[in-house]
Amino acid sequence: MLSTPITYALRVFTRLYPTQKPLVFSGVGSTQKLANLMVAAGQSKPLLITDNFLLTSGMLDETIAHLKDKGCEVIVFDDIVPNPTFQHVEKAIKATKQNSCDSIFAIGGGSVIDVAKVVAAAVTNDKSLHKLTGLLKVKTPPLPLYITPTTSGTGSEVTNAAVISDTETHKKKFFVDSQYLPIAAALDPELLKSLPAHITAAVGMDALTHAIEAFTSKVNSAEVDRDAALAIKLLFDHLPKVCADGNDLHARETVAQASFLAGYSFSKSSLGYVHAISHQISAHYNTPHGLANAVILPRVLEFNKVTSAKRLAKLELMLSGKQESKDIQTLAENFLGRVNDLAKTIGIPSSLPEIKQSDFKKITKDALAEARASYAVPKVMRRKDVEAILNSVSNEQTA
Ligand SMILES: [Fe+2]
Repeated sequence: MLSTPITYALRVFTRLYPTQKPLVFSGVGSTQKLANLMVAAGQSKPLLITDNFLLTSGMLDETIAHLKDKGCEVIVFDDIVPNPTFQHVEKAIKATKQNSCDSIFAIGGGSVIDVAKVVAAAVTNDKSLHKLTGLLKVKTPPLPLYITPTTSGTGSEVTNAAVISDTETHKKKFFVDSQYLPIAAALDPELLKSLPAHITAAVGMDALTHAIEAFTSKVNSAEVDRDAALAIKLLFDHLPKVCADGNDLHARETVAQASFLAGYSFSKSSLGYVHAISHQISAHYNTPHGLANAVILPRVLEFNKVTSAKRLAKLELMLSGKQESKDIQTLAENFLGRVNDLAKTIGIPSSLPEIKQSDFKKITKDALAEARASYAVPKVMRRKDVEAILNSVSNEQTA
């Protein structure tokens, strides 16, 4: 099959501007190790970007005390909300400049990390945020950036992009450059264990979607295959455990590692229709990203199951641990069954009741446009394919 223009462009882009894995610390105490690295690198006045819940819950007390013990002056910035806007980023830039901070230390979910990435680059590049929006706009290396994610799903700690809402245009603006990657990240289960089970499940399915979309992308490579497959295996083995017992620190750490690998994989190979559709659903109804992905994923796999049969069969063989001689299509079907079983086990609903028939046209148009512009999908959807998926989601709700 001929490559679509975007597949060709992504192949060239990922070769010219490869994403590099940041240094990673993992396990209990890894945030302290991350702080030690920052101090060893010569930085002593970080802007600590986080959210108000984490700060007031006392979960960061140990890290802040540790940084102070190491001689750091810590400036805390906790004015971060879900879907942060240009105004939030501007405030954080101001705080960084006014306090002459020499580094950014981010502890939080996707919103905190996105703000931290853009602040680190905006401070050194002295450009308006509008001028920093888009592809490859970071000319001067950003302030040193260190990240501890507090959810396991977005993979933001290892991706080369950030998303910020522009309240003037009411659109999400993308910032894409390999320089948005942190110097190092910590996968710290102590900071993950308070995440409620339903959020753990949804963001875990986001990580699974990243890995599957990367593995079935037409811009794949031996490295993506290896990391995405490992992420999928770790998620199938450990996501149910962590949803059943949030204090299982080993499972928490392993799911965080899977999310990291999944994030790295999709940053090298792009995503697919699950994200193209779920982004529009979230924009219309504010549906949490992971939840929208989790519900849409089985439907897109159903659409791809013939074209991607070989890839899905490979995953099934890995997960079953068998070398059965069943035909490829049966193995692919079995893999789809596993995804459905996993979703059921961790309490993912089978529909999104908020989706309205009257929005189908707009959601479909925007999803197709996003996929056409950004993703190397294995099989191209038409309008009727997206509408059938949306219909199945809302039909199930009324059934
Ligand atoms: Fe995602």
